[in-house]
Amino acid sequence: MKKFPHDFLWGASSSAFQIEGGWDEGGKGMTVADYNSFQRSHMQADSKVASDFYHHYVNDIKLFKELGLKAYRFSISWARIIPDGDGDINPAGIDFYNNVIDLLIEHDIEPLVTLYHFDLPFALVDKYNGWQDRRCIEAFRRYAQTCYRAFGDRVKKWQVNNEQNLMIRVNERMNMYHVQPENVEKVRAQMDYNMFVAHAMATNDCHDMIKGSLIGPAVSSTMTYPSSNKPQDVWAAKMNDNFKTNYALEMYCFGDYPGYYKTYLTQCGIYPHTEPSDAQILKQAKPDFIAVNYYRTLVASYLPADASHPIGTKEKDIDFDLYGYFKIEKNPHLPSSKYGAQIDPMGLRLVLNEYYHQYRLPMIITENGLGTPDELTADNKVHDDYRIDYIQQHIAACYDAMEDGVELFGYCPWSAIDLLSSHQGFKKRYGFVYINRDDHDLKDLARIKKDSFYWYQNVIKNHGL
Ligand code: BG6
Repeated sequence: MKKFPHDFLWGASSSAFQIEGGWDEGGKGMTVADYNSFQRSHMQADSKVASDFYHHYVNDIKLFKELGLKAYRFSISWARIIPDGDGDINPAGIDFYNNVIDLLIEHDIEPLVTLYHFDLPFALVDKYNGWQDRRCIEAFRRYAQTCYRAFGDRVKKWQVNNEQNLMIRVNERMNMYHVQPENVEKVRAQMDYNMFVAHAMATNDCHDMIKGSLIGPAVSSTMTYPSSNKPQDVWAAKMNDNFKTNYALEMYCFGDYPGYYKTYLTQCGIYPHTEPSDAQILKQAKPDFIAVNYYRTLVASYLPADASHPIGTKEKDIDFDLYGYFKIEKNPHLPSSKYGAQIDPMGLRLVLNEYYHQYRLPMIITENGLGTPDELTADNKVHDDYRIDYIQQHIAACYDAMEDGVELFGYCPWSAIDLLSSHQGFKKRYGFVYINRDDHDLKDLARIKKDSFYWYQNVIKNHGL
């Protein structure tokens, strides 16, 4: 009989720009995530209304209680707290999150807060070119301190940012529209480094300012299989994981880039500018846990370098390593979601084992789920047995990993309720609760419990049994 510990944090997740709506209400400023979603609004939903949690949070939190959640992982919108990023603090923004946090606690749901989930205040792009400039580090530090002061009496578990390791690779998320192509990798490396310094400062401040606080990074996990047992393919797979995730985990946990990453930065001539005081700050910052976002695994095969692909080149599905290229391929042994993600519960067990046995830090799953269209039946039901299957298999993988010795203290699937997909609007749904809206028709925004809601409710009630 597989039972999870009684204090296991059964939860669910969301992020501000994907769930809140009210994008310019209560004094909130525009964010990079808003901007990007508006760019696509001719073809899909944007962040203006999203799931309208901003106006429905009282009812939505009641639903979380009914679902049985022990924890709710959500992000604070920096631009709601400080609309222009580093100027005046917006009391209405503080009030909103105070209300959310108080209500969660009233319902015995622990708030797990992410400070920054893809939504840099747009004003910081206008003023400083965003993370390119060290003034953004100071702005983030001040924002984080503001949140610690306002919410730290009740929020004890924090994630500094969401998926820096993925965000940094997506030019639109970093608002790199105007960077000259020949400078893109240099700018990316500098932004990444600046974010690591900001991450370290926010970690140290959290420990100093909030008694009993726990803070850690939320990473987009990668598990890459080699396409064959050729040593070069094994190497390509390893390097894919190293360059996409492990280098970041090393920086968070040990305060320094690993050797292979330094060599890469040096060989490409893109080593970032650093300040002498950074090293100590980076070393001092010790995360208390790793938050793992896991959706799928990848397969890589090695491609020899040639003159038309100098080191550092990126093409669709073809990436760099130090000595050649590698190509991402499909895994013929795994099923795929409608949107192409390969479904692999065993990959989650592998990821958890790898991170735990490398870093020896407790972990929590902060994202995992199946994004797919759902159908609302004429009698207002959503029969999402495919989602139940997906989550059931991944919970089993968590259990197996715990039996392998991994310290896992929670599981927060994506997402609590349907929300704006980061790339596919409202067609692609993840939630336990259906939000009655389409991309361009807001309908009544009614909340409808899917079959997976009742199933997950039972899982939680029975401690994962
Ligand atoms: C994660 C992000 O990488 O993937 C979420 O943290 C995102 O914000 C999730 O929604 C799923 O991706 P998508 O593109 O299907 O929304």
